[in-house]
Amino acid sequence: MTDNIITKPAQTEFPIHELIAKRWSARAFSTRPVEKTKLLSILEAARWAPSSRNEQPWRYIVFTNDNPDKLKEAQSVLLEINSYAKRAPVLICAIAKKSYTDNGNHNRLHFHDLGAANENMFLEAFNQGLIMHEMGGFNREKAMGLFRISEDYEVGIMIAIGYQDSHTILPDRYKEKAFMPRERKPLSEFVFLEEIGKEIK
Ligand SMILES: Cc1cc2nc3c(=O)[nH]c(=O)nc-3n(C[C@H](O)[C@H](O)[C@H](O)COP(=O)(O)O)c2cc1C
Repeated sequence: MTDNIITKPAQTEFPIHELIAKRWSARAFSTRPVEKTKLLSILEAARWAPSSRNEQPWRYIVFTNDNPDKLKEAQSVLLEINSYAKRAPVLICAIAKKSYTDNGNHNRLHFHDLGAANENMFLEAFNQGLIMHEMGGFNREKAMGLFRISEDYEVGIMIAIGYQDSHTILPDRYKEKAFMPRERKPLSEFVFLEEIGKEIK
């Protein structure tokens, strides 16, 4: 732990696992490289996510500062609002296969399963002492061309992974945000007993 580390554990209504409470979408990335073993553990966590018919539709295209030119190319798909992620030593493009491999039928759950695998990664990243940020703000068309993604895959999100740096390195629009408490709807707004609208407690 250093002074750079902002922690924002969830204020929960009921007790949950520490790792779930601890995970948050930090933006202040250090340029410090991520150890390959840590990165592989994070990707291993994705591997063990559940998926419809065990299709495992997730695919990850990984860029690291081992190859700065390629990392720069990957950064070029990010929208300006996500420029903070250009400091991250690891960028990943997360995509999902749209069809089942055995019968070619459309897999309507492909994005669901990609999300589950991504969350596994998120939790493992925090377990490894790293931060991670998922980003929907990027140019999908450009990513498809640049990363040679075929039509059978749907581009999901860009993911940044790295060590946390001081909030002072953030663009102004994100400096204050870094300290804002994490907020969520109460359980009563999204959990219902037996029918929509009927409270569980
Ligand atoms: C699919 C997805 C897309 C997101 N896209 C962006 C994005 O483009 N830029 C950004 O700064 N944050 C992005 N976020 C982060 C969310 O804003 C963040 O998860 C949410 O505010 C909850 O905060 P927490 O993750 O710290 O609990 C995204 C998160 C998800 C799951």
